Amino acid sequence: MPTPLPETAVPHTRGRTLDHAAAVYDILAPVMTLGQEGRYRALAIRLLNLRGSECVLDVGCGTGILTRQLAERLSGADACAVGLDAAPKMIKVAQRHARGLPHLRFDVGVAETLTYGDASFDCAVSTFFFHHIDADLKRRSLEELRRVLKPGGKLIIVDVDVPSNWFGRLCAWSGYWLFKQEEIRENICGELRRALADTPFREVTRVAHYSGYVTVFQVVK
Ligand SMILES: C[S@@+](CC[C@H](N)C(=O)[O-])C[C@H]1O[C@@H](n2cnc3c(N)ncnc32)[C@H](O)[C@@H]1O
Repeated sequence: MPTPLPETAVPHTRGRTLDHAAAVYDILAPVMTLGQEGRYRALAIRLLNLRGSECVLDVGCGTGILTRQLAERLSGADACAVGLDAAPKMIKVAQRHARGLPHLRFDVGVAETLTYGDASFDCAVSTFFFHHIDADLKRRSLEELRRVLKPGGKLIIVDVDVPSNWFGRLCAWSGYWLFKQEEIRENICGELRRALADTPFREVTRVAHYSGYVTVFQVVK
């Protein structure tokens, strides 16, 4: 299993971390995603198409529900699902949920400076993380994800994107006004798409689009 640096060495991040919301995140998240989060997770898992022996990284894992679901699909001796989040309190909740499940680990860390070795993961996933980091960090995090992925490794990203209809515009801009979060506006204005296009991945495909503002990207190194 790829090992991280000790928690004391985790650098500060400009990303919007959610320590303050860790205790209530699992109650609030379904409201924020209009009850669709289970659907997004199911699609991400289907697209990753795990055979059971992989090492998979969940970046900005929050309370780690998806990371746990990934670990449940692993069986190989060296298989691992690693959830990484910059908020130590989120990681504490995730570890509580983990209940000793094998092949599962949670690390405190920042996506823009991953402490794992080159090509140490078969695949990676990120749900609703990229609207928590600014344009520069989006690019640095994508570079880092590309570095830690094996050649041909797949990355699935589910996030706020350019709205495609009036309902999507309403939801996405409401999120921006509610949280006063510039990083959401950047995603609405296409910054995540541009950052993906600028990172030398072999392939970037938009495979699904939900509620007029959430896009699922499939990316191959
Ligand atoms: C909206 S939550 C998404 C959690 C989970 N993936 C989900 O879909 O429910 C975004 C998470 O990103 C984390 N985060 C913010 N900046 C980060 C960074 N630079 N590196 C890693 N995680 C970060 C926050 O602490 C938060 O837990």
